[in-house]
Amino acid sequence: MIVKANAGVLGTGHYVPERVVTNADLEKMVDTSDEWIQERTGIRERHFAPDGVNTSDMCTIAAKQALDMAGLSPEELDMIIVCTLTPDMTIPSTACIVQKNIGAKNAAVFDLYAACSGFAYGAITATQYIQSGMCKNVLVIGAEILSRYMDFTDRNTCVLFGDGAGAAVFGQVPEGYGVLGADMGADGNGGKYLNIPSSGVAILPTDEARAKHLTYIKMDGKEVYKFAVKVMGRTAEKALTRAGLSHEDIDLLIPHQANIRIIQSAAKRLHLPMDKVFVNIHKYANTSGASIPIAMDEANRQGRMKRDDIVVLAGFGAGLTWAGLVMKWY
Ligand code: COA
Repeated sequence: MIVKANAGVLGTGHYVPERVVTNADLEKMVDTSDEWIQERTGIRERHFAPDGVNTSDMCTIAAKQALDMAGLSPEELDMIIVCTLTPDMTIPSTACIVQKNIGAKNAAVFDLYAACSGFAYGAITATQYIQSGMCKNVLVIGAEILSRYMDFTDRNTCVLFGDGAGAAVFGQVPEGYGVLGADMGADGNGGKYLNIPSSGVAILPTDEARAKHLTYIKMDGKEVYKFAVKVMGRTAEKALTRAGLSHEDIDLLIPHQANIRIIQSAAKRLHLPMDKVFVNIHKYANTSGASIPIAMDEANRQGRMKRDDIVVLAGFGAGLTWAGLVMKWY
């Protein structure tokens, strides 16, 4: 029987690899300084996955934590969405590998590909399936091993990213709770500002491509920065309007953690004091699709969200893409 319902978060989890790489460690690899990195980005350290650990391994740990908190067995999942730009491989999808690892044999699964906006896109997608009644419980995971795509000769990019995974189980919540409004969008014209040229079929990762450093993240930082400060607050505002709310209603903003200055500018646009904004960029750097769910899990376990709180997720990323989501916490 199809039961239409509101969709909210039932449980969260996260995992970061043990190895911590500090700004001082990066000073030994490229011409940079702890002072520059902290001042321009807010990052102090990040975690890197060791060889042999793959995105699906980190997803699996985060997923088990989220299921545990939700009090659900893996068999109760109807869908798994893994949001990543660093899958283990193109086929099978990372979601298939996670399904096998956790034994979620009743779940339809797929990977979703929206870079740093991935988790917010995934959360909105999960919401549609629950609201339509097609699914009861959907596991959404954001996970990345970006360290394998970082050029440790390029100081413009190699100081910015880290590895990790975050997960949330979305399920049915009472009327008035859960996701109240959302916004998502993209501007493909901005694809040139942030990409990995040799990461698909257009330029295969041959020795020549490697020698030209085409298998690494390329970024025009200034263009991405301008885009980010424009869209992060805007997508949150649009989602709030769709929820019939305004910035004054926000109890906690959980933004994509790319740069503390971008986060501060979104907070300013939303007239929010920084104590209503969750920040953990100093510990993890930019973990792309994993950044919002890692932050959401930390905020959740620290008791930063209480029943009835209005929680806003806002992300932006390569594509270019953006997405915002407003929830009444249950
Ligand atoms: N260490 C030291 N110096 C560095 C450096 C580093 N790691 N990276 C860049 N610099 C230098 C530049 O070479 C430049 O030197 P120059 O003036 O001699 O040419 C100088 O610092 C200033 O560079 P600039 O690009 O103006 O710095 P910025 O204040 O714009 O900060 C970013 C650079 C990348 C931190 C910033 O543009 C940013 O955060 N962009 C958005 C990135 C992002 O969010 N990406 C992910 C999207 S999901």
